[in-house]
Amino acid sequence: MLDKQTIVGVIGSGAMGSGIAQVAAMAGHNVVLYDTNNAALDKAKAGLNNTLQKLQEKGKIANADEVFSRFSFADTLSTFANCGLIIEAIVEKLEVKKAVFTELETIVSADCVLATNTSSLSVTSIAAACKKADRVFGLHFFNPAPLMALVEVIPAVQTNEGLIPAAKDLMKAWSKIPVITKDTPGFIVNRVARPFYGEAIRIYEEGIADMATIDHAMTAGGFRMGPFALMDYIGHDVNYVVTETVFQSFFFDPRYKPSFSQKRLLEAGWLGKKTGRGFYNYAEGAITPAPNADVTLATAILERIVAMLINEAVEALYLNIASASDLETAMTKGVNYPKGLLAWCDEWGADKCLAILDSLYHEYHDDRYRASVLLRKKAFDRTKFIDKN
Ligand SMILES: NC(=O)c1ccc[n+]([C@@H]2O[C@H](COP(=O)([O-])OP(=O)(O)OC[C@H]3O[C@@H](n4cnc5c(N)ncnc54)[C@H](O)[C@@H]3O)[C@@H](O)[C@H]2O)c1
Repeated sequence: MLDKQTIVGVIGSGAMGSGIAQVAAMAGHNVVLYDTNNAALDKAKAGLNNTLQKLQEKGKIANADEVFSRFSFADTLSTFANCGLIIEAIVEKLEVKKAVFTELETIVSADCVLATNTSSLSVTSIAAACKKADRVFGLHFFNPAPLMALVEVIPAVQTNEGLIPAAKDLMKAWSKIPVITKDTPGFIVNRVARPFYGEAIRIYEEGIADMATIDHAMTAGGFRMGPFALMDYIGHDVNYVVTETVFQSFFFDPRYKPSFSQKRLLEAGWLGKKTGRGFYNYAEGAITPAPNADVTLATAILERIVAMLINEAVEALYLNIASASDLETAMTKGVNYPKGLLAWCDEWGADKCLAILDSLYHEYHDDRYRASVLLRKKAFDRTKFIDKN
């Protein structure tokens, strides 16, 4: 159904759309890239050409011109008539996406399949904009798409079941690592990773440690970046908005509650590295704060945040959001965690993780710290999540 001959249409030529178009063209497809903004399309065209030339110089592709010749650039949707797969990567607004999907259906053939790269919207509600809703599914790439291997494949409620294995195979053919996730807020990565940011901010707000110390505790524990440095890198306009969207979409579950510290940064326009100021100051000459190197404090910080992360992964498994192996793959390949969270739980023992959460729950009387039923079961029966045999 989906193979190398499939012409791929990409809607939206911004950061994600141009990256996805590059991946598809490098995998051998002819690609039509479309945007309503001509300046964005011109920028993508120049950027793709430049990137492909650089890849040729580095010996990563044989012939940049040949790959570039697979692109066509379009300012009208009618160009998509011959596409077999269309991936939408436009602005993250439900009504705009729905309007595009409805219009697309008047142009494409009956067997063309339609994917959305949404990070936070319901794929099911986007599919509902189509008459043939069973052809719609989610393909969530990570930024930058050419470099990040993980792709979350998301069946909507309406999606034809046969489409998902075909999408998975196609992603493998694109040298990606696909995982399958239910259509629930944040899918896998943006859901399970929430405590990495949220719990770090709580620890800071309570005055238990400063940002540099929390960041140090997490990098010493194997994470590539500390939570504050990472939030500044992602940008608070993106990271805070994802947190708020996930919180609202989960019917205000306290587990995902956003923080005022981060909201104020957004309001101040202190978006992080890109604006020169976020949690940290990136101005020339600004003093980098030194962490407190106390090992006991670092261990307590690491264990509190990792216990919260493990609990999210265990709860996602319990609610059948994804398989154990897809949960592990998503967190190690999508956000480069040093190990899978379920394996981490096995290493600690579920009883240790449960004891940390129960102690927080008793201290705060806050549902934010409620342990997953599955974690409690595992602590009781002492079985592992990952069967190593
Ligand atoms: N940036 C990320 O880290 C990231 C990661 C994964 C998924 N996503 C998702 O990918 C999508 C795009 O994000 P982005 O960061 O590439 O955004 P972007 O702002 O860089 O690009 C969006 C592009 O879509 C175009 N556009 C807007 N409305 C359009 C329409 N009606 N028809 C055609 N083109 C239109 C804009 O002109 C712009 O060029 C969003 O749904 C976002 O949630 C983003």
